[in-house]
Amino acid sequence: MTEPFSFTLHARDGAARRGTIRTAHGEVATPAFMAVGTAGTVKAMQMRDVRETGTDVVLGNTYHLMLRPGAEQVAKLGGLHKFAGWPHTMLTDSGGFQVMSLAKLRKVTEQGVAFQSHIDGSRHMLTPERSMEIQGLLGSDIQMQFDECVSLPNSRDEIDRAMRLSLRWAERSKAAFRGGDGQAVFAIVQGGDQTDLRRESARELVAMNFPGYAIGGLAVGEPQDVMLRVLEDTLPDLPQDRPRYLMGVGTPDDMLQSVARGIDMFDCVMPTRAGRHGLAYTRYGRINLKNARHADDPRPLDPESTCPAARDYSRAYLHHLVRSGEILAMTLLTWSNIAYYQSLMRGAREAIEAGRYADYVADARACWERGDV
Ligand code: GUN
Repeated sequence: MTEPFSFTLHARDGAARRGTIRTAHGEVATPAFMAVGTAGTVKAMQMRDVRETGTDVVLGNTYHLMLRPGAEQVAKLGGLHKFAGWPHTMLTDSGGFQVMSLAKLRKVTEQGVAFQSHIDGSRHMLTPERSMEIQGLLGSDIQMQFDECVSLPNSRDEIDRAMRLSLRWAERSKAAFRGGDGQAVFAIVQGGDQTDLRRESARELVAMNFPGYAIGGLAVGEPQDVMLRVLEDTLPDLPQDRPRYLMGVGTPDDMLQSVARGIDMFDCVMPTRAGRHGLAYTRYGRINLKNARHADDPRPLDPESTCPAARDYSRAYLHHLVRSGEILAMTLLTWSNIAYYQSLMRGAREAIEAGRYADYVADARACWERGDV
């Protein structure tokens, strides 16, 4: 029999937390970085290599998968874990965010969002009930409520409206969730940069008793200090014994600062997207391999990395691959970037356990700033 979904806290250091999430498809060590696998693939990567970096969760998207190949098609082929070759924990986003950023001719009503596909212009409707049905067909372990996320800066009225609509959609999402043992639906706190709206959203969602809570509507154009203030305003209202997931964040520094404030989970396209554009995230900061200064550099990105992509290829060779538009450049840099994000989270977990998280953050920042030259 499958164990129920659970979250166990092992250690705390200030507000930072070290824990384990258990789902139907395994354990997730937190703080965790989840690799983005929008269309059922972590772009340019094989799942075997994604796993080797220390990744416990891959994230799929309702919006993309409903349009292509279709949720019913994935279900017919045995569900998303089997279809994508990822037998570990999968989380799916509800489509609330992607429909606003990608779809054409959107219309938001109380019922849901009517939109046209960005792929072929076909017409679709996403509602809380349909989003949960799709996530059920995909079979993800952690499913997200359907919500509306607005960009920042925005008017208070607009932020207020979207937050209240998201609360009503949270209730409908929870009622429509059909998960079994080891599966869970998470709520999403909205409220933009308005402290009182964030706190109201958090309190209302906590009253609905979700097994986990996400902070949405951040990394949508606001500076880092605004994001961190929102976390400081919101997190004290969330229960200590449930995981907290900061959606769509972020840079290595964003993640370390957010962990310090009590965040347990992250996802972001940054390491994968940057990797496809010639950018490497390393212990020594961000390195742009397009830059001519790497043309003669025989050193690897990081000789001490456990990732073959970071350890076994010279910067000169990576520079050559990027400049030549070779497919291998995307694979190697994506691989190295995910490995770096995972090593940063592994280090954070160890530092929290040892009660030296503040020193860990200071050391990581010093190394980014110093660089390796
Ligand atoms: N990904 C990043 N931010 C958000 C958000 O606010 N809502 C959802 N559903 N996904 C996100």
